[in-house]
Amino acid sequence: MKALSVEEARLHELSKITSEGPGVTRFPFTPEDTRAKCMVRKWMEEDGLEPYEDAIGNLFGRATGDRPGTILTGSHLDTVRNGGAYDGALGVVSAISAVSSLLRRNCGVRRTVEACATVGEEGSRFSYGYLGSLALTGYVDLNATDRSGMTLAQALTQTGMDPALVHTARRSDIAAFVELHIEQGPVLEANGLAIGLVNRVTGLWGASVRFTGRADHAGTTPMDSRLDPLVAASLLISRLPALTVAVSHQARATVGMISVAPGSSNVVPSECQFSLDIRALYDADLIKLSRVIEAEIRRISQETGCASTVKWLYKESPVAMDDRLLKLAAELADRMQLPYRVMESGAGHDAQIISRLAPSLIVFIPCVSGRSHCPDEAVKPEDIRQGTDYLTEFIRRISCDDQLC
Ligand code: GLV
Ligand code: MN
Ligand code: MN
Repeated sequence: MKALSVEEARLHELSKITSEGPGVTRFPFTPEDTRAKCMVRKWMEEDGLEPYEDAIGNLFGRATGDRPGTILTGSHLDTVRNGGAYDGALGVVSAISAVSSLLRRNCGVRRTVEACATVGEEGSRFSYGYLGSLALTGYVDLNATDRSGMTLAQALTQTGMDPALVHTARRSDIAAFVELHIEQGPVLEANGLAIGLVNRVTGLWGASVRFTGRADHAGTTPMDSRLDPLVAASLLISRLPALTVAVSHQARATVGMISVAPGSSNVVPSECQFSLDIRALYDADLIKLSRVIEAEIRRISQETGCASTVKWLYKESPVAMDDRLLKLAAELADRMQLPYRVMESGAGHDAQIISRLAPSLIVFIPCVSGRSHCPDEAVKPEDIRQGTDYLTEFIRRISCDDQLC
């Protein structure tokens, strides 16, 4: 059997750090998060990078150069519940390899280069994601709560960090950010492409929707005299695919979490609360889709007699990636003879937040059958190798580029 590359072996080690199976479950500010960071810190040290952590728990491995500005590369260390081994982790592991190989080749880091592992990108624990990258920009809401009601400030304290210092995570030295990530979709694989260069990241709005009805006896209450909020929710959910494609074929709407109270098999529920995740590549489509869905919720309320509320928790606009980095990235793909495509991202990424600070770029590599956010996530070893080589060369080039800052 062929030996695993350093990157494959490291990804495999990281995937074992999970709070539950199947797949990988690693939420921010948990014992698993701390263990994963210890492991990554050790790899940084072994590879000659100088590790340090900021006040929200982002981990960096620095290679110091003598020109102004820092090139940052990496991705997130957290996962969704029962996610895969590559979403985020690939960007962290390949970033360490890229910086370490630049150090080994002694060709440079002219500028300081840092590999990073950001914290809490997925939004799986708190009411929103991108915690680490938001802290880099100076805006993070310490009052965000997790499902148990614990605030981000409390979670930081519990992990031994001081929430009063989070503002110190803000950066003003970043000259560029590059994130290597799996595509999480089928396009590259289906078209035999090695690289995807992201020109635009989807906008993402998240809401909590609630239908309120009336608890009643499951055996004695006739079907036509109930106020069943779960029936109301199912009417909406079953309409989402048609409503969404009618707005745009690139728009998405997903209900991924649902809870019913009081939660007994023999009681008509009194309340149904669920998450709503809507995405589109243009603000106008997001506004349109949100209005269409809200109108449908009001219509279902009238039809069923159940009261409804929609509370928008976050509204992230679509973000364009940096044109100049894209051009350099396309030139490099040509030079390395890697077939590529410029494409949009339907997934959210740290780069969309960090682009508020500095020119940013996301580079995709294919993943098997486009599967992601599930235990079956897989990437071919050859694609990991090509992606890491490409990242290394790209970082080398921009670390010598005087026009960046
Ligand atoms: C993050 O992976 C997201 O797009 O939800
Ligand atoms: Mn993800
Ligand atoms: Mn990701």
